[in-house]
Amino acid sequence: MLNAIQAMQSRRSIREFGPELVPMETVRQLVEAAGRAPSSKNTQPWRLYLVQGAALDALKADYLAAFDAGTKPSPGFRYSPDPLPEAWAARAKANGIGIFKHKGIGREELDKRRAHDRENFHFFGAKQVFFLGTQASSNASGTFMDCGFVLDNLMLGLVSLGYGSCPQFSAVCYPEVLRRHIPGTEDTLFLAALPFGGQKAGSQVNQFQTDRMPVDDWFKVIG
Ligand SMILES: Cc1cc2nc3c(=O)[nH]c(=O)nc-3n(C[C@H](O)[C@H](O)[C@H](O)COP(=O)(O)O)c2cc1C
Repeated sequence: MLNAIQAMQSRRSIREFGPELVPMETVRQLVEAAGRAPSSKNTQPWRLYLVQGAALDALKADYLAAFDAGTKPSPGFRYSPDPLPEAWAARAKANGIGIFKHKGIGREELDKRRAHDRENFHFFGAKQVFFLGTQASSNASGTFMDCGFVLDNLMLGLVSLGYGSCPQFSAVCYPEVLRRHIPGTEDTLFLAALPFGGQKAGSQVNQFQTDRMPVDDWFKVIG
């Protein structure tokens, strides 16, 4: 098993999964450990749903139908400032160009770009998907931060166990579809999806490696 630093260094977004399921006992251990995340005043504002099997197939079918119909995304919260600060926008653009280049998709190949986006609603072939949410009335930045710690714990835990995942905002953009398929979520604000599992053997897309800013660009020591 990888230690924490090794897991942080080796995690990357996995966008092609194999058929392997993470055993339920392992999932429970992982979720229990992820729930050790800190939260303001120990409020533990998160909710986590695992969708798999026939339930996931049904959800996927409705999701793909919504995407294909050109349904306008309505995530229920604003993810980023609009417009993005210039430097962030430049990094986002470089990331988009990078992944299309890695997949051999050209600028003009709009159908292939759309197929790439569509993969999100297919959860990249994952057989198990976590949906992370919070109470709908707690649409607040600090609550989102608390929930983000759980998301990161899940991702790093999966890496340390030899599995992969891909955090997704796109997959919570149709919350009404999620509410239809996940019982008891009428008052849940969905924050992110996390398809997870074993990586597809020999996958090219999973080799895509993003870069990071030099540490000295964002880390300052005072004193
Ligand atoms: C909250 C969140 C939402 C994301 N949403 C998506 C998404 O919808 N689709 C996708 O392909 N990647 C998504 N990503 C993955 C990012 O693109 C990825 O983390 C970033 O490019 C850095 O690459 P890495 O994860 O491989 O290190 C998301 C990441 C985060 C943290």
